[in-house]
Amino acid sequence: MKLLIIGAGGHGKVAADCAAKMQKYSEIFFIDELFPQVQKSGPWEIVGNMAGLNSLVDQNTEVFVAIGSNATRQRVSEELARLGNIPLATLIHPKTVLADHVTIGEGTLVCAGAIINISTTIGKGCIINTASSIDHDNSIGDYVHISVGARLAGTVEVGSQSFVCISATVANNIKIGNGVTVGAGAVVIRDVSNYQTVVGVPARPIKEVD
Ligand SMILES: CC(C)(COP(=O)(O)OP(=O)(O)OC[C@H]1O[C@@H](n2cnc3c(N)ncnc32)[C@H](O)[C@@H]1OP(=O)(O)O)[C@@H](O)C(=O)NCCC(=O)NCCS
Repeated sequence: MKLLIIGAGGHGKVAADCAAKMQKYSEIFFIDELFPQVQKSGPWEIVGNMAGLNSLVDQNTEVFVAIGSNATRQRVSEELARLGNIPLATLIHPKTVLADHVTIGEGTLVCAGAIINISTTIGKGCIINTASSIDHDNSIGDYVHISVGARLAGTVEVGSQSFVCISATVANNIKIGNGVTVGAGAVVIRDVSNYQTVVGVPARPIKEVD
């Protein structure tokens, strides 16, 4: 099986390294809009851009969307779904800790050192980043990014397209809406409405977008 990764930036390299550690793929390569000006990402080749996608995918190839922006990752993933018959990869680093009864949606990346505890559901197209910790009975929506070292206690809900930034902490039984940003280092102790950005300790809103 081969792996074609869309997006050859830093996040793409992390995804490629995770895929390599999985020892599932005989070949890993990228497409990126910077091609042909840029032809390498780390040790991996960039072989084209989105326009050439169809000619690069065969029945032996899975595709992974490695785009950090939640909204763009969702848009590109949905474009792929509309094309049909393109199998999306789900990448789970072998050095993660997954408890029983955890479900992980298609197209999600779970990075090294992440811990996902029992009875938690992770949506599709998520980034569960390095050394983040998601405890029991969480429900994480689609296209969410739980960033490096973020910690979610038990029974937390996170709505689709939300971004829990680096080292943020979310207390138990909290509901975070859709399209929320929880700032770096914030400690969330109250529910957060859709599309709010909250920062600080305890976390308070700084802005709302339409
Ligand atoms: C929350 C965040 C996304 C907001 O970014 P932004 O919309 O550009 O916000 P701004 O930089 O305009 O800051 C707005 C105000 O909030 C404050 N603020 C922003 N982020 C903050 C944070 N994490 N903690 C405390 N205050 C913060 C700023 O100091 C500023 O206050 P001021 O108006 O009094 O000067 C960003 O600050 C952040 O936390 N980024 C982390 C991203 C991350 O985790 N990256 C890792 C990817 S793997």
